[in-house]
Amino acid sequence: MIIMNDNTFIGSLKQQSHVAQFLLFAYSIAAFTPPNARVLGIGVGFNSIAEFCYNAEIYLQKYHLAQEFTGIDIDDRHLSIIREGLAQNEIPVEQYRFIHADAQRLETITTGQFGLTIVRHPQVEENHSDAKHHELYDVWMNIFEKAKQKVSNNGLLIATHFRQQGFLYTKEILQEQGYDLKFSGENPFKGSYFRSENNEPCHFDKYLIVARK
Ligand SMILES: C[S@@+](CC[C@H](N)C(=O)[O-])C[C@H]1O[C@@H](n2cnc3c(N)ncnc32)[C@H](O)[C@@H]1O
Repeated sequence: MIIMNDNTFIGSLKQQSHVAQFLLFAYSIAAFTPPNARVLGIGVGFNSIAEFCYNAEIYLQKYHLAQEFTGIDIDDRHLSIIREGLAQNEIPVEQYRFIHADAQRLETITTGQFGLTIVRHPQVEENHSDAKHHELYDVWMNIFEKAKQKVSNNGLLIATHFRQQGFLYTKEILQEQGYDLKFSGENPFKGSYFRSENNEPCHFDKYLIVARK
């Protein structure tokens, strides 16, 4: 059993890759210790999902912090890539469930509630200043509203973003929804970086929000 809120424990996270690090950091600062939580990933995509699955595997198998993972994405191609990634890495799939659906329909496509909900890079700020942005913003507002009903009482919602504007919009949405923000700011475990279109180094999970219902 992991001791949360323990500096030594946080220190030991450095041995792990950054997704496990920030997830366990979030658990720690929120003093969140659900044994075998159900985990929901919204808009799981494929960019970082292989890494996420690897890390999910760590906390499913090693720390028993989760009992199952449900991932939802509107794009079936992304889910196929994830399934291939799991198979190639010989990760047992029984505890993973991937649903090809619009997350705005969360209440009809999932059952029960989730101790931990993860939303990495919601598209709340893409193409801002044009009509498409407003459309995407509204869609993700709606997804966050539906997600709130799926987060169990005292459950956690963890969101990350690589752009500051996306982080700020997401933070605003979660605050308006009445979550207790346990952490919001630059992620101490932001991981490696990629180059943006301007050749700027961008960290996938540069900003982190840990919200408790
Ligand atoms: C910016 S990507 C982030 C992907 C992944 N979370 C990551 O960190 O690499 C956003 C993801 O949300 C998915 N998405 C967009 N709208 C959605 C919706 N209405 N319901 C479910 N997934 C959606 C997209 O297909 C895409 O995979």
